[in-house]
Amino acid sequence: MIPSVLPTYNRAPLSFVKGEGSWLIEADGRRFLDLGAGIAVNALGHANPALTEALTSQAQNLWHVSNLYQIPQQQQLADKLVDATFADTVFFTNSGTESCELAVKMARKYWYDKGQPERHVIITFDGSFHGRSSAGIAAAGSEKMTKGFAPLLPGFRHLPFGDHDAIKEAMKQPDVAGILIEPVQGEGGIRPLPDVCLKGIRALCDETGALMMLDEVQCGVSRTGKLFAHEWAGVSPDIMMVAKGIGGGFPLGAVLATEDAASGMTAGTHGSTYGGNPLGCAVGNKVMEIVSDPAFLEDVNRKAGLLRQGLESLVARFPDVFESVRGLGLMLGIKCKVTNVDVVKAAYDAGLLTVPAGDNVVRLLPALNIPDEDIAEALNRFEKVATELQPS
Ligand SMILES: Cc1ncc(COP(=O)(O)O)c(C=O)c1O
Repeated sequence: MIPSVLPTYNRAPLSFVKGEGSWLIEADGRRFLDLGAGIAVNALGHANPALTEALTSQAQNLWHVSNLYQIPQQQQLADKLVDATFADTVFFTNSGTESCELAVKMARKYWYDKGQPERHVIITFDGSFHGRSSAGIAAAGSEKMTKGFAPLLPGFRHLPFGDHDAIKEAMKQPDVAGILIEPVQGEGGIRPLPDVCLKGIRALCDETGALMMLDEVQCGVSRTGKLFAHEWAGVSPDIMMVAKGIGGGFPLGAVLATEDAASGMTAGTHGSTYGGNPLGCAVGNKVMEIVSDPAFLEDVNRKAGLLRQGLESLVARFPDVFESVRGLGLMLGIKCKVTNVDVVKAAYDAGLLTVPAGDNVVRLLPALNIPDEDIAEALNRFEKVATELQPS
């Protein structure tokens, strides 16, 4: 008999009743150190007091109001994002998938309004992840996501991740509307795109007019030690997708764009019942206030250094279990020699939560404010896991 919850997830036999900072607690009191943070969502830890206060004080006044009316919390958050980034304008969504949907629509409408509707192809990459909607799976293109769901949304051209010669060639086609890429692939296995490649994509977009579209759903919101990951390369996109961390655990996403890239999105071309609601934006404003503070970012980089150094040492001491550490900031991946899922399962037994990713990688995406002592404890627990999995 089919379970009452549609069985699209292989769930671990864990169930939490409370969260406290970087810890999740089961009903029997067992505590787990959470290095997954809801897959990069709980950017400021569980039950963060400042976010709880922002959410509950808003909840006492107004939960939902239609986008038919002015929403001051939404306006404030849009202003903050515009002030802090390349963007001139923001549309709020409830998830990363919805952000990707709008980004695709925005790029196509841009060329339609310029009288070139034939420019509708979006270049995307192997190993990418852009959500599970029809556009999202067509964009990512992997058989794992698309099998059985044909006919797929047309208009995506897939290239090997970071293959600059292939990108250069593909950008010569006259039907290219834009290029969509994660500056650090998350689901694909924590694969950072080299700065030189992001710079090269920017230059090719400038040459051809194609829109540079960055999916920062997982790597954005200070996760890599800059407010947005593309800042490391010193270039900025035309369109950017955001979600996960921006709501700190409350469902919130956004599409940021330049005035030119967004020029096709006039009244009536897009909408959302819940996108930019007062509750989500009250939390988003508080998250932005905290994570965009230069002192906070400096601390993220310091903590990232501590965690990375500890992991590098583990890799060096357990070369039959782990192969290498990769990633940027607090978006780290350990490429494993043993099966990554075995590492994740053994970590559960050690009271440590991690997330598997593609390319046999175990992902570590802790809260950005994880205390130093929790980093040390995580490394101790990881060492136990490695010792256990060491082939004899
Ligand atoms: C890079 C990227 N894009 C899009 C998505 C989809 O986001 P959501 O699950 O919030 O719809 C994800 C989710 O993991 C992601 O990592």
